[in-house]
Amino acid sequence: MNQPTEVSSLAAWSDSTKIPYEFYTDPEIYQLEMERIFRGPFWHPVALVAEIPTPNDFKTLTVGETPVLVTHSEDGQCRAFINACAHRGVQLTVAPRGSAKRFTCPYHRWVFATDGSLLGAPGDETFPAAFCKSESGLKELKTVNFYGVIFATFDPDNTPPIEVYFGRVGDALKSCVGDGTRPLKLLGYQKVVFNCNWKVYMDNDGYHAGLLHTAFRLLNFQGGKGELFADGPAGNWGMAYAVERYKDNGFLSDPELVEVKGDETTAAGALIRPVTQVVRHFNSINFRFGRPLGVDKTEVHYGYYGYEDDSPEMLKHRVRQSSNLLGPSGFVSIEDGSVFDRCQKGVTGGVGTMNFVKGIGTAVPDRKTSAQNDETVSTVWWSEYKQLMGY
Ligand code: FES
Ligand SMILES: [Fe+2]
Repeated sequence: MNQPTEVSSLAAWSDSTKIPYEFYTDPEIYQLEMERIFRGPFWHPVALVAEIPTPNDFKTLTVGETPVLVTHSEDGQCRAFINACAHRGVQLTVAPRGSAKRFTCPYHRWVFATDGSLLGAPGDETFPAAFCKSESGLKELKTVNFYGVIFATFDPDNTPPIEVYFGRVGDALKSCVGDGTRPLKLLGYQKVVFNCNWKVYMDNDGYHAGLLHTAFRLLNFQGGKGELFADGPAGNWGMAYAVERYKDNGFLSDPELVEVKGDETTAAGALIRPVTQVVRHFNSINFRFGRPLGVDKTEVHYGYYGYEDDSPEMLKHRVRQSSNLLGPSGFVSIEDGSVFDRCQKGVTGGVGTMNFVKGIGTAVPDRKTSAQNDETVSTVWWSEYKQLMGY
Protein backbone atom coordinates (compact mmCIF):
# COMPACT_ATOMS: atom_id res chain seq x y z
CA MET A 1 0.00 0.00 0.00
CA ASN A 2 1.29 3.47 -0.83
CA GLN A 3 1.74 5.59 2.26
CA PRO A 4 2.27 9.36 2.26
CA THR A 5 5.91 10.21 2.82
CA GLU A 6 6.53 10.67 6.52
CA VAL A 7 8.48 13.70 7.63
CA SER A 8 10.22 12.86 10.86
CA SER A 9 11.09 16.46 11.69
CA LEU A 10 10.06 19.80 10.27
CA ALA A 11 13.71 20.63 9.67
CA ALA A 12 13.63 17.97 6.97
CA TRP A 13 10.75 19.59 5.13
CA SER A 14 11.98 20.43 1.67
CA ASP A 15 9.17 19.56 -0.73
CA SER A 16 6.44 22.12 -1.34
CA THR A 17 4.17 19.37 -2.71
CA LYS A 18 4.16 17.45 0.57
CA ILE A 19 3.02 19.50 3.53
CA PRO A 20 3.61 18.00 6.98
CA TYR A 21 0.42 17.80 9.03
CA GLU A 22 2.00 19.93 11.76
CA PHE A 23 1.55 23.01 9.59
CA TYR A 24 -2.20 22.65 10.02
CA THR A 25 -2.25 21.65 13.70
CA ASP A 26 0.69 23.07 15.67
CA PRO A 27 -0.20 26.10 17.86
CA GLU A 28 3.43 27.33 17.87
CA ILE A 29 3.52 27.38 14.08
CA TYR A 30 0.20 29.23 14.15
CA GLN A 31 1.71 31.92 16.40
CA LEU A 32 4.71 32.26 14.11
CA GLU A 33 2.34 32.70 11.17
CA MET A 34 0.64 35.61 12.93
CA GLU A 35 4.00 37.37 13.03
CA ARG A 36 5.65 36.35 9.75
CA ILE A 37 2.62 36.04 7.49
CA PHE A 38 -0.20 38.19 8.84
CA ARG A 39 2.03 41.02 10.07
CA GLY A 40 4.55 40.31 7.32
CA PRO A 41 4.97 41.48 3.71
CA PHE A 42 1.41 40.95 2.49
CA TRP A 43 -1.24 43.24 1.08
CA HIS A 44 -4.46 42.33 2.92
CA PRO A 45 -7.78 43.29 1.32
CA VAL A 46 -9.56 45.08 4.18
CA ALA A 47 -12.57 46.63 2.46
CA LEU A 48 -14.18 47.32 -0.85
CA VAL A 49 -15.03 50.97 -1.48
CA ALA A 50 -18.54 49.61 -2.10
CA GLU A 51 -18.73 48.68 1.60
CA ILE A 52 -17.92 52.20 2.74
CA PRO A 53 -19.00 54.30 -0.27
CA THR A 54 -19.64 57.69 1.37
CA PRO A 55 -17.55 59.91 3.65
CA ASN A 56 -17.82 58.91 7.32
CA ASP A 57 -18.67 55.29 6.47
CA PHE A 58 -16.53 52.75 8.30
CA LYS A 59 -16.14 49.02 8.80
CA THR A 60 -14.18 46.85 11.19
CA LEU A 61 -12.54 43.49 10.65
CA THR A 62 -9.78 41.36 12.10
CA VAL A 63 -6.63 40.74 10.08
CA GLY A 64 -4.92 37.70 11.52
CA GLU A 65 -5.56 38.53 15.17
CA THR A 66 -5.31 42.30 14.86
CA PRO A 67 -8.49 44.41 14.99
CA VAL A 68 -8.62 46.89 12.13
CA LEU A 69 -10.84 49.92 11.52
CA VAL A 70 -11.31 51.09 7.93
CA THR A 71 -12.73 54.57 7.40
CA HIS A 72 -13.83 56.67 4.47
CA SER A 73 -12.64 60.02 5.70
CA GLU A 74 -14.07 63.39 4.90
CA ASP A 75 -11.30 64.12 2.39
CA GLY A 76 -12.56 61.16 0.35
CA GLN A 77 -9.69 58.84 1.19
CA CYS A 78 -10.17 55.34 2.61
CA ARG A 79 -7.80 54.60 5.46
CA ALA A 80 -7.04 51.66 7.73
CA PHE A 81 -6.03 51.85 11.40
CA ILE A 82 -5.35 49.46 14.20
CA ASN A 83 -8.70 49.49 16.01
CA ALA A 84 -7.17 50.40 19.36
CA CYS A 85 -7.36 53.67 21.25
CA ALA A 86 -4.08 55.58 21.34
CA HIS A 87 -4.49 56.01 25.12
CA ARG A 88 -4.74 52.56 26.72
CA GLY A 89 -5.54 50.36 23.75
CA VAL A 90 -9.30 49.92 24.11
CA GLN A 91 -10.97 48.73 20.92
CA LEU A 92 -12.41 51.95 19.61
CA THR A 93 -15.54 50.53 18.02
CA VAL A 94 -17.05 47.07 17.90
CA ALA A 95 -19.67 47.84 15.23
CA PRO A 96 -19.10 45.76 12.09
CA ARG A 97 -20.08 48.69 9.89
CA GLY A 98 -21.61 52.12 10.23
CA SER A 99 -21.28 55.85 9.72
CA ALA A 100 -19.55 58.17 12.19
CA LYS A 101 -17.94 61.60 12.04
CA ARG A 102 -15.94 60.89 15.18
CA PHE A 103 -14.89 57.89 17.22
CA THR A 104 -15.13 58.42 20.96
CA CYS A 105 -13.37 55.87 23.10
CA PRO A 106 -15.78 54.57 25.75
CA TYR A 107 -13.08 54.40 28.44
CA HIS A 108 -11.67 57.94 29.00
CA ARG A 109 -13.46 59.65 26.12
CA TRP A 110 -10.57 60.46 23.84
CA VAL A 111 -12.05 61.52 20.50
CA PHE A 112 -10.59 60.66 17.09
CA ALA A 113 -11.45 61.97 13.62
CA THR A 114 -12.02 59.64 10.64
CA ASP A 115 -8.48 60.43 9.46
CA GLY A 116 -7.21 58.98 12.75
CA SER A 117 -6.11 62.25 14.35
CA LEU A 118 -6.77 62.92 18.03
CA LEU A 119 -9.31 65.72 18.38
CA GLY A 120 -9.52 65.92 22.13
CA ALA A 121 -8.74 64.20 25.42
CA PRO A 122 -10.48 65.15 28.68
CA GLY A 123 -8.05 66.42 31.32
CA ASP A 124 -5.22 67.02 28.89
CA GLU A 125 -4.15 70.06 30.90
CA THR A 126 -2.74 67.53 33.40
CA PHE A 127 -0.81 65.49 30.81
CA PRO A 128 3.01 65.65 30.77
CA ALA A 129 4.43 68.66 28.95
CA ALA A 130 5.92 66.35 26.34
CA PHE A 131 2.50 64.96 25.37
CA CYS A 132 1.88 65.83 21.75
CA LYS A 133 -1.67 65.68 20.46
CA SER A 134 -0.62 65.55 16.81
CA GLU A 135 1.46 62.45 17.53
CA SER A 136 -1.24 60.68 19.48
CA GLY A 137 -3.57 59.63 16.69
CA LEU A 138 -4.59 56.10 15.75
CA LYS A 139 -1.89 53.87 14.33
CA GLU A 140 -2.40 53.93 10.58
CA LEU A 141 -1.56 51.13 8.16
CA LYS A 142 -0.27 51.84 4.69
CA THR A 143 -3.11 51.36 2.21
CA VAL A 144 -3.67 51.36 -1.51
CA ASN A 145 -6.85 51.35 -3.59
CA PHE A 146 -6.57 48.67 -6.30
CA TYR A 147 -9.63 48.43 -8.57
CA GLY A 148 -11.91 49.65 -5.77
CA VAL A 149 -10.49 47.26 -3.18
CA ILE A 150 -8.58 48.77 -0.24
CA PHE A 151 -5.46 46.80 0.62
CA ALA A 152 -3.43 47.34 3.79
CA THR A 153 -0.02 46.11 4.90
CA PHE A 154 1.61 45.87 8.33
CA ASP A 155 5.08 45.73 6.76
CA PRO A 156 5.28 48.53 4.18
CA ASP A 157 9.08 48.39 3.94
CA ASN A 158 9.06 44.82 2.63
CA THR A 159 5.79 44.63 0.70
CA PRO A 160 6.28 45.32 -3.02
CA PRO A 161 4.14 47.82 -4.96
CA ILE A 162 0.70 46.34 -5.51
CA GLU A 163 1.04 45.88 -9.29
CA VAL A 164 4.26 43.89 -8.78
CA TYR A 165 2.76 42.04 -5.83
CA PHE A 166 -0.19 40.80 -7.89
CA GLY A 167 1.31 40.61 -11.39
CA ARG A 168 -1.06 38.72 -13.63
CA VAL A 169 -3.36 37.85 -10.71
CA GLY A 170 -4.34 41.55 -10.75
CA ASP A 171 -6.15 40.84 -14.04
CA ALA A 172 -8.23 38.13 -12.36
CA LEU A 173 -9.10 40.47 -9.50
CA LYS A 174 -9.99 43.21 -11.96
CA SER A 175 -12.22 40.82 -13.87
CA CYS A 176 -14.02 39.91 -10.63
CA VAL A 177 -14.73 43.47 -9.56
CA GLY A 178 -16.09 45.05 -12.72
CA ASP A 179 -12.94 45.63 -14.77
CA GLY A 180 -12.42 48.92 -12.99
CA THR A 181 -15.23 50.48 -14.99
CA ARG A 182 -18.43 49.24 -13.32
CA PRO A 183 -18.54 50.26 -9.65
CA LEU A 184 -19.78 47.56 -7.32
CA LYS A 185 -22.78 47.76 -5.03
CA LEU A 186 -22.87 45.89 -1.72
CA LEU A 187 -25.78 43.45 -1.47
CA GLY A 188 -25.19 41.89 1.94
CA TYR A 189 -23.11 39.54 4.06
CA GLN A 190 -23.05 36.04 5.45
CA LYS A 191 -20.67 34.74 8.08
CA VAL A 192 -19.61 31.16 8.76
CA VAL A 193 -17.05 29.37 10.93
CA PHE A 194 -15.29 26.38 9.41
CA ASN A 195 -13.70 23.88 11.80
CA CYS A 196 -10.35 23.90 10.08
CA ASN A 197 -7.01 25.62 9.96
CA TRP A 198 -6.92 28.72 7.76
CA LYS A 199 -4.59 26.98 5.29
CA VAL A 200 -6.92 24.00 4.97
CA TYR A 201 -9.54 26.55 3.98
CA MET A 202 -7.22 28.22 1.45
CA ASP A 203 -5.86 24.96 0.04
CA ASN A 204 -9.36 23.75 -0.67
CA ASP A 205 -11.95 26.48 -1.09
CA GLY A 206 -10.29 28.47 -3.88
CA TYR A 207 -10.82 25.79 -6.39
CA HIS A 208 -11.00 22.04 -6.38
CA ALA A 209 -12.16 19.43 -8.81
CA GLY A 210 -15.94 19.24 -9.03
CA LEU A 211 -16.17 15.57 -7.97
CA LEU A 212 -17.18 16.61 -4.45
CA HIS A 213 -20.29 18.46 -5.52
CA THR A 214 -23.36 16.50 -6.48
CA ALA A 215 -24.98 19.71 -7.71
CA PHE A 216 -22.30 20.09 -10.40
CA ARG A 217 -23.45 16.84 -11.92
CA LEU A 218 -27.16 17.33 -11.41
CA LEU A 219 -27.03 20.79 -12.94
CA ASN A 220 -24.67 19.88 -15.79
CA PHE A 221 -22.23 22.56 -14.75
CA GLN A 222 -19.09 22.82 -16.78
CA GLY A 223 -15.89 22.34 -14.85
CA GLY A 224 -12.17 21.93 -15.26
CA LYS A 225 -11.75 23.60 -18.63
CA GLY A 226 -10.31 26.89 -17.46
CA GLU A 227 -6.88 28.06 -16.44
CA LEU A 228 -5.14 28.77 -13.12
CA PHE A 229 -2.16 31.10 -12.89
CA ALA A 230 0.04 32.09 -9.94
CA ASP A 231 2.08 35.28 -9.97
CA GLY A 232 3.91 37.72 -7.71
CA PRO A 233 5.85 37.00 -4.53
CA ALA A 234 2.96 35.98 -2.24
CA GLY A 235 1.71 32.80 -3.91
CA ASN A 236 -1.53 34.45 -5.03
CA TRP A 237 -3.28 32.88 -7.95
CA GLY A 238 -6.10 33.68 -10.31
CA MET A 239 -8.43 31.71 -12.51
CA ALA A 240 -10.45 32.33 -15.63
CA TYR A 241 -12.94 30.08 -17.30
CA ALA A 242 -15.98 30.09 -19.53
CA VAL A 243 -19.39 29.45 -18.05
CA GLU A 244 -21.92 27.21 -19.73
CA ARG A 245 -25.49 28.35 -19.35
CA TYR A 246 -27.71 25.91 -17.47
CA LYS A 247 -29.84 23.75 -19.68
CA ASP A 248 -33.02 22.92 -17.84
CA ASN A 249 -32.96 19.21 -17.05
CA GLY A 250 -35.99 19.33 -14.78
CA PHE A 251 -33.90 19.01 -11.65
CA LEU A 252 -34.78 22.44 -10.29
CA SER A 253 -38.39 23.53 -9.93
CA ASP A 254 -37.20 27.11 -10.41
CA PRO A 255 -34.29 27.11 -12.89
CA GLU A 256 -34.16 30.91 -12.86
CA LEU A 257 -32.01 30.59 -9.75
CA VAL A 258 -29.05 29.34 -11.78
CA GLU A 259 -29.73 31.38 -14.88
CA VAL A 260 -26.89 33.48 -16.27
CA LYS A 261 -28.60 36.76 -17.04
CA GLY A 262 -26.95 39.22 -19.41
CA ASP A 263 -23.61 38.47 -21.00
CA GLU A 264 -21.70 37.30 -17.92
CA THR A 265 -20.60 34.06 -19.57
CA THR A 266 -17.02 34.15 -18.37
CA ALA A 267 -16.03 33.60 -14.77
CA ALA A 268 -13.00 34.54 -12.71
CA GLY A 269 -11.54 34.09 -9.28
CA ALA A 270 -8.59 35.31 -7.25
CA LEU A 271 -7.03 33.59 -4.28
CA ILE A 272 -5.42 36.32 -2.20
CA ARG A 273 -3.00 35.19 0.49
CA PRO A 274 -3.06 34.75 3.29
CA VAL A 275 -6.79 34.22 3.65
CA THR A 276 -9.16 35.94 1.18
CA GLN A 277 -10.94 34.57 -1.86
CA VAL A 278 -12.78 36.41 -4.61
CA VAL A 279 -15.22 34.68 -6.93
CA ARG A 280 -17.28 35.86 -9.86
CA HIS A 281 -19.34 32.98 -11.21
CA PHE A 282 -22.63 33.20 -13.10
CA ASN A 283 -24.22 36.43 -11.79
CA SER A 284 -22.72 36.04 -8.32
CA ILE A 285 -19.82 38.20 -7.17
CA ASN A 286 -18.42 37.54 -3.75
CA PHE A 287 -15.48 38.34 -1.50
CA ARG A 288 -14.66 35.87 1.26
CA PHE A 289 -12.65 37.56 4.00
CA GLY A 290 -11.10 34.90 6.21
CA ARG A 291 -10.04 35.23 9.81
CA PRO A 292 -8.15 32.55 11.73
CA LEU A 293 -9.71 31.76 15.11
CA GLY A 294 -6.87 29.68 16.48
CA VAL A 295 -5.11 26.77 14.82
CA ASP A 296 -8.26 24.78 13.97
CA LYS A 297 -11.01 27.31 13.22
CA THR A 298 -11.50 29.85 10.46
CA GLU A 299 -14.24 32.44 10.31
CA VAL A 300 -15.19 33.61 6.82
CA HIS A 301 -17.19 36.75 6.06
CA TYR A 302 -18.86 36.55 2.70
CA GLY A 303 -19.63 39.91 1.09
CA TYR A 304 -21.98 39.80 -1.93
CA TYR A 305 -21.97 42.40 -4.68
CA GLY A 306 -23.75 43.56 -7.78
CA TYR A 307 -23.04 46.59 -9.96
CA GLU A 308 -24.24 50.13 -9.30
CA ASP A 309 -25.84 50.22 -12.74
CA ASP A 310 -27.79 46.95 -12.30
CA SER A 311 -31.56 47.08 -12.67
CA PRO A 312 -33.61 46.32 -9.51
CA GLU A 313 -34.55 42.93 -11.04
CA MET A 314 -30.90 42.09 -11.66
CA LEU A 315 -29.94 43.05 -8.09
CA LYS A 316 -32.69 40.80 -6.77
CA HIS A 317 -31.49 37.96 -8.98
CA ARG A 318 -27.90 38.41 -7.76
CA VAL A 319 -28.97 38.36 -4.11
CA ARG A 320 -30.94 35.19 -4.61
CA GLN A 321 -28.27 33.45 -6.64
CA SER A 322 -25.35 34.59 -4.49
CA SER A 323 -26.26 32.90 -1.24
CA ASN A 324 -28.21 29.97 -2.71
CA LEU A 325 -25.48 28.95 -5.13
CA LEU A 326 -22.04 29.83 -3.76
CA GLY A 327 -22.80 30.98 -0.22
CA PRO A 328 -21.58 28.77 2.63
CA SER A 329 -24.83 26.80 2.57
CA GLY A 330 -25.54 27.22 -1.14
CA PHE A 331 -26.14 24.06 -3.07
CA VAL A 332 -22.81 24.24 -4.90
CA SER A 333 -20.86 24.90 -1.69
CA ILE A 334 -22.70 22.99 0.98
CA GLU A 335 -20.27 20.06 0.93
CA ASP A 336 -17.20 22.28 1.31
CA GLY A 337 -17.61 22.96 5.03
CA SER A 338 -17.96 19.27 5.73
CA VAL A 339 -14.81 18.40 3.79
CA PHE A 340 -12.80 21.19 5.48
CA ASP A 341 -13.89 19.82 8.85
CA ARG A 342 -12.95 16.26 7.90
CA CYS A 343 -9.58 17.40 6.48
CA GLN A 344 -8.75 19.01 9.83
CA LYS A 345 -9.91 15.96 11.78
CA GLY A 346 -7.92 13.68 9.48
CA VAL A 347 -4.62 15.50 9.99
CA THR A 348 -4.96 16.12 13.73
CA GLY A 349 -2.91 13.87 15.96
CA GLY A 350 -1.25 11.95 13.15
CA VAL A 351 2.03 12.04 11.27
CA GLY A 352 1.99 12.47 7.53
CA THR A 353 1.81 14.96 4.71
CA MET A 354 -0.89 16.63 2.65
CA ASN A 355 0.09 15.68 -0.90
CA PHE A 356 -0.32 17.92 -3.92
CA VAL A 357 -0.06 15.64 -6.95
CA LYS A 358 -2.68 16.38 -9.61
CA GLY A 359 -0.91 18.03 -12.54
CA ILE A 360 2.51 18.07 -10.87
CA GLY A 361 3.89 15.38 -13.18
CA THR A 362 3.09 17.37 -16.29
CA ALA A 363 3.50 20.89 -14.89
CA VAL A 364 5.55 23.66 -16.47
CA PRO A 365 8.84 24.05 -14.51
CA ASP A 366 7.83 27.05 -12.39
CA ARG A 367 4.36 25.50 -11.76
CA LYS A 368 2.77 28.93 -12.20
CA THR A 369 0.14 27.87 -14.70
CA SER A 370 -2.06 24.83 -14.80
CA ALA A 371 -5.33 23.38 -15.93
CA GLN A 372 -8.31 24.37 -13.80
CA ASN A 373 -8.58 21.34 -11.60
CA ASP A 374 -4.87 20.69 -11.06
CA GLU A 375 -3.21 21.11 -7.67
CA THR A 376 -0.07 22.62 -9.19
CA VAL A 377 -0.34 26.37 -8.61
CA SER A 378 -1.02 25.94 -4.88
CA THR A 379 2.53 24.66 -4.45
CA VAL A 380 3.86 28.11 -5.45
CA TRP A 381 2.36 29.44 -2.21
CA TRP A 382 3.87 26.62 -0.17
CA SER A 383 7.34 27.47 -1.56
CA GLU A 384 6.87 31.11 -0.52
CA TYR A 385 5.46 30.08 2.85
CA LYS A 386 8.47 27.85 3.52
CA GLN A 387 10.86 30.73 2.95
CA LEU A 388 8.87 33.30 4.90
CA MET A 389 8.47 30.97 7.86
CA GLY A 390 12.17 30.09 7.79
CA TYR A 391 11.95 26.35 7.09
S1 FES B 1 -8.39 53.90 26.59
FE1 FES B 1 -9.37 55.17 25.19
S2 FES B 1 -9.59 57.04 26.22
FE2 FES B 1 -8.52 55.80 27.59
FE1 LIG C 1 -16.33 23.33 -3.43
